[in-house]
Amino acid sequence: MQTILVTGGAGFIGSNFIHYLLENTEYNIINFDSLTYAGNIRNLDSVKEHPRYKFIKGDITSQKDLLKLSDEDFSLVVNFAAESHVDRSILAPNQFVMTNVVGTQNLLNLAVKKGISKFVQISTDEVYGSLGPDGYFTEKTPFDPTSPYSSSKAAADLIVMAYNKTFELPVNITRCSNNYGPYQFPEKLIPLMINNALSNKELPVYGDGKNVRDWIYVEDHCKGILLVMEKGENGQVYNLGGNSEKQNIEIVELLLEILNKPHSLIKYVTDRKAHDRRYAIDFTKINKDLGWNPETDFKTGMSKTVNWYLENRNWLDNIISGEYQQYYELMYKNR
Ligand code: NAD
Ligand code: DAU
Repeated sequence: MQTILVTGGAGFIGSNFIHYLLENTEYNIINFDSLTYAGNIRNLDSVKEHPRYKFIKGDITSQKDLLKLSDEDFSLVVNFAAESHVDRSILAPNQFVMTNVVGTQNLLNLAVKKGISKFVQISTDEVYGSLGPDGYFTEKTPFDPTSPYSSSKAAADLIVMAYNKTFELPVNITRCSNNYGPYQFPEKLIPLMINNALSNKELPVYGDGKNVRDWIYVEDHCKGILLVMEKGENGQVYNLGGNSEKQNIEIVELLLEILNKPHSLIKYVTDRKAHDRRYAIDFTKINKDLGWNPETDFKTGMSKTVNWYLENRNWLDNIISGEYQQYYELMYKNR
């Protein structure tokens, strides 16, 4: 069976992808991750001795670390490694260009050298910018990124396509909407609100709370990535979405109801800079070409997610006891 190099596999989507692969396929997996604040090796505790799984600690921006992969035999690459949080990209943009752009290019060079058979770049719908009340992003929507995060992802997408055209590297790019589910770091909307509500802390809603995101349960995204890796047409981009547009305030109110906490915990705070108003995805292409659909409805996904956080309070407590406290102060104090 082939071996997949999964980069950033200790993060939220990457770890869900690895669990999904080990449970549902026969692939061998090498997880290459530098374990930044967002990487949590505990996400993979239950598979660390799995015969088809291997972890290598390494940074995609470091040529020296990438040498650790020289003798490894893999034929597929799925690149999740990234700085992924928009708010952090506003506080400190430089690392976003290093990891998301330079790191991706380093991996592309490695992929060309190894002659791999498919490189899948995990991109984002944020490269398309922001929508008004109507319309959807298609794969042909022009790039219009607003944050250092989304612009670094857009830059990476361009380089990925250049390697396809120039060096004939077989690539696909996936652009997905907002994921939610187990193992998501509590800097992102849903786990942050769950964590705060559980500790009876204020729930900081940016601006008027009416920004819209299209939410997809992470396992549905993982299934789509696998399909693209196996069956995606070389050089193609695929949009993935959850068919589940919600205003932020709807999500926050729903979480308070599920957790039986008072609405008085909601606090409207200063808006995010250049806050994209709405994302919505047209995923007709992957549906028609590869037969993919998001399978988990929002209510079921949210209930699974909240239950996971309730059953894994230790996981959350470990994270919020570290660097997270300083980040939270910096981001939310006096906001
Ligand atoms: P995450 O922040 O939870 O995880 C990122 C992982 O990458 C971490 O394990 C981290 O340690 C690792 N990493 C960071 N820099 C690295 C480096 N230089 N070398 C090696 N490893 C490094 O992110 P996520 O939410 O799981 O997102 C994964 C990918 O999916 C990202 O590329 C992101 O742009 C994309 N994406 C995310 C979403 C979402 O809703 N979370 C939606 C669409 C696309
Ligand atoms: O659309 C895909 C993108 O979704 C991914 O590419 C990113 O990696 C991922 O982080 C996510 O970006 P968002 O900025 O949409 O996600 P976030 O969870 O940070 O915020 C979701 C919405 O909630 C957004 O409108 C901002 C708002 N928000 C967020 C936080 C953390 C709040 O109102 N309060 C908060 O405290």
